[in-house]
Amino acid sequence: MDLKNYLGQRAALVDKALDALLPAEDTLPATLHKAMRYSVFAGGKRIRPILALAACEAVGGNPQQALPVACALEMIHTYSLIHDDLPAMDDDDFRRGRPTSHKVFGEASAILAGDALLTQAFVLLSSPATCEQIPAHTTLQILHTIARCSGSMGMVGGQVVDMESEGKQVDFPVLEYIHTRKTGALLLASIQCGGLVGAADDGAMAALTAYGEAAGLAFQIADDILDIVGEQTELGKDVGSDLARGKVTYPALLGLPAARERAQELKEIAVRALAPLGAAAEPLKAIARHIVDRSS
Ligand code: IPE
Ligand code: IPE
Ligand code: MG
Ligand code: MG
Ligand code: MG
Repeated sequence: MDLKNYLGQRAALVDKALDALLPAEDTLPATLHKAMRYSVFAGGKRIRPILALAACEAVGGNPQQALPVACALEMIHTYSLIHDDLPAMDDDDFRRGRPTSHKVFGEASAILAGDALLTQAFVLLSSPATCEQIPAHTTLQILHTIARCSGSMGMVGGQVVDMESEGKQVDFPVLEYIHTRKTGALLLASIQCGGLVGAADDGAMAALTAYGEAAGLAFQIADDILDIVGEQTELGKDVGSDLARGKVTYPALLGLPAARERAQELKEIAVRALAPLGAAAEPLKAIARHIVDRSS
């Protein structure tokens, strides 16, 4: 399959939906809505929403039906990036090819833009329009999955341990704890929620979950590797900041070759997990390969 074309088309679909679902820039308070849109439309890869759509498709669902869920996931992801870049956290100056939110709007506005994007995701998921497209019991499962994976037992929990571990010697289980939570959890939620919209049966959901766990961890290992070997112009964000902050990363703990090997292994595990889903899962397989072999 032509993955580049597939990703481009799906990202365009998500961008159009996000534009329709976020308050306009001149909606009061205008500075807040401007800051929310500044980060959302700065050019992210949209990998989480695309995974949600692809997972829905892989279990025989209509990806169009998963669009609001996909957009909610991207709003939460964008909030996490705005907060991750704050001086109190990773203190980074560039994101998605632009100065970070706090550099442009100031710290208070960046914090609030993140808060508002997180909340907007739940406004969208619980809105009457979304509930018309997705059965109520499925919507509840989606809300629960996304909230759980984003909170203290998921992404936020991972971010806390990431911060607490800076400059420290930690062992492998702690590294894995950080990566599966701070990044893996929301990626897994994206895949599971796509499956929920597509009414996946237990077997299909188990396949998606095994895929999502492996692909989610592989995504953060690739991110760690790119922080060392990537190009700032291509990545659109600061490189070398993990080393500068003494972050616990796969290359820091295992070395680059072993980190690369682990990412390749996880890619194989992810692809194999999709075997029960047949040809409909081809896009998910291609995305897993891309996650590990990407340069941005
Ligand atoms: C970056 O995520 C932060 C991580 C969780 C590793 P992405 O690499 O998906 O960033 P965007 O959305 O494309 O900017
Ligand atoms: C970020 O991990 C994870 C979240 C935003 C939840 P990183 O700190 O490694 O992400 P980048 O490298 O800044 O994109
Ligand atoms: Mg970070
Ligand atoms: Mg960071
Ligand atoms: Mg990183």
